Amino acid sequence: MTKLWVQRLEAPLWSVKYSPRTWNDFVGQDNAIAQLRNLAESGSCPNMILYGPNGTGKTSAAQIFSKALLGDTLAANYKMLNLRDVSDYSIAKAKRDIKDLAKLDRSKRSELDEYMSIVFKEVKAELKAKGQTRDPNKSQLLQGAIRIFASTVTVADAMIKILVLDEADVLTRSMQQALRRTMEIYNEACRFIFTTPTLAGWSPAVISRSLMINFPSPSNDVIVSLVGRIAESERVEVDCAGVNAIARESNGDMRRAINLLQVASAKGKPVTEDGVYACSETILTKGVRNMVSAAIDGSFVIARESLRGLLALEGYSPSDVLLQIERDLLSRPFEPTVLTSLLDRIAEIDYRFIQAQNPFIQITALLASIGRIASVSA
Ligand SMILES: Nc1ncnc2c1ncn2[C@@H]1O[C@H](COP(=O)(O)OP(=O)(O)OP(=O)(O)O)[C@@H](O)[C@H]1O
Ligand SMILES: [Mg+2]
Repeated sequence: MTKLWVQRLEAPLWSVKYSPRTWNDFVGQDNAIAQLRNLAESGSCPNMILYGPNGTGKTSAAQIFSKALLGDTLAANYKMLNLRDVSDYSIAKAKRDIKDLAKLDRSKRSELDEYMSIVFKEVKAELKAKGQTRDPNKSQLLQGAIRIFASTVTVADAMIKILVLDEADVLTRSMQQALRRTMEIYNEACRFIFTTPTLAGWSPAVISRSLMINFPSPSNDVIVSLVGRIAESERVEVDCAGVNAIARESNGDMRRAINLLQVASAKGKPVTEDGVYACSETILTKGVRNMVSAAIDGSFVIARESLRGLLALEGYSPSDVLLQIERDLLSRPFEPTVLTSLLDRIAEIDYRFIQAQNPFIQITALLASIGRIASVSA
C-alpha cells in the first residue's frame, strides 16, 4: 500500500504532462480556441474573461494565448496570478524581506513568495505616505498585487503586458470596483485576462470592458477521445466501458478525467468500469453522501458535525462541498418538484457565498433545509 502511494506521488501528473502546449492540443472548445487564435494572429488583445466549469482548459488557453501574442517578450511582459493563492497568502509570510527570501534554497521559495514580499513592501510604503502606520490587510495586498504589475513600465518592444488573473471568482464586488479603476488607468499598457467558473457575481462594469469567451462543459465524446489519446500514449489498456465510466465520473472536468485514468491504471492492470468507480470514490464524495443522508433522516447534529469534519479537518473548500452536495442530490431519486426546491436553495447559498462572512453557517442552513424539504415530501 505504502509503496503504491510513493509510486503515485513520484510519478508526474498526467494532467500536467498532457497539458496543451499548442492550439492543436486542445480537444473540444472549438469556438473558444478559434476566437483566441484569431485574436493572437491579428495581434490584438482586448481584456478578456474566460469562463466555464473546472477543467475545461481556461488557464491553459490563457497561457498559450499570451505566448502566441508576446512571443520572445513573454518573460518580461506576462504574469499569471492565481487570485485564490494571493487572497489566501498570509500577512506573516508576505512580511518576509526579499533579501532574506533570496537566502533560502530555491525549493523553499516560490515566485509568488518573492512577488508578495515586493507587494507587501510597496503597499506598506503607500499606506505610510498616506500617514497610516499599520500593516496592509489581505484585501489591500491583493489589490496591490494586481496594481503593481499593471503599473510597471512595459519592457522592450512589446506594446502591451498581459496580466492573467486566474481563479478571479474570489474577487468581491468592492475589489471589482477597485479593479475597474486600475483597468482604466493602465489600459494603454496592460491587458487583463480573467478566468472564472461563472459570470455570476461579476460587476457589469468589468464585464462591459471585457470580451467574454465561454469554455462550456465538454460532451462525453470529447472526454472519451482525450482519455483514449492519453491511454494510447501511456500504453494503458482500457476497455470501452472503462473509458465511458471515466467520462461519466469526471462530470465534464478534463483534469479529473485524466487523473482518474492515471489512478485507475496505477496498479498496472487493465482499467475497467469497476476499477474506475472504486477510484472515483473520494473522502469528499463519501463524506458528503453521509452528511446529506443524515440531513435527510433529520439527524441534523450528525450532518453538522460531518460538515465541520470536511471543512476543518479534511480542508475542503466550502465551494467544493457545496458543488458535491449538488451532485449528490442530483444522484438521488427525488420527485422533480422536491429536487427543484433543493437546487433552488443551493443556488441561493452559492449566491450568498459572495457576500457572507461564514460559509459554515450558510451550508448548515442548507442542511437544515434539506431535512425540512425531504421530510415534507416523504
Ligand atoms: N480542452 C482541453 N483539451 C485538452 N486537455 C484539457 C482541456 N481542458 C483541460 N484539459 C486538461 O486539464 C488540465 C487542466 O486544464 P486547465 O487548468 O486549463 O483548466 P481550467 O479550465 O483552468 O480549470 P479550473 O477552472 O479548475 O482552473 C490541463 O492541464 C489538461 O491536461
Ligand atoms: Mg484554471
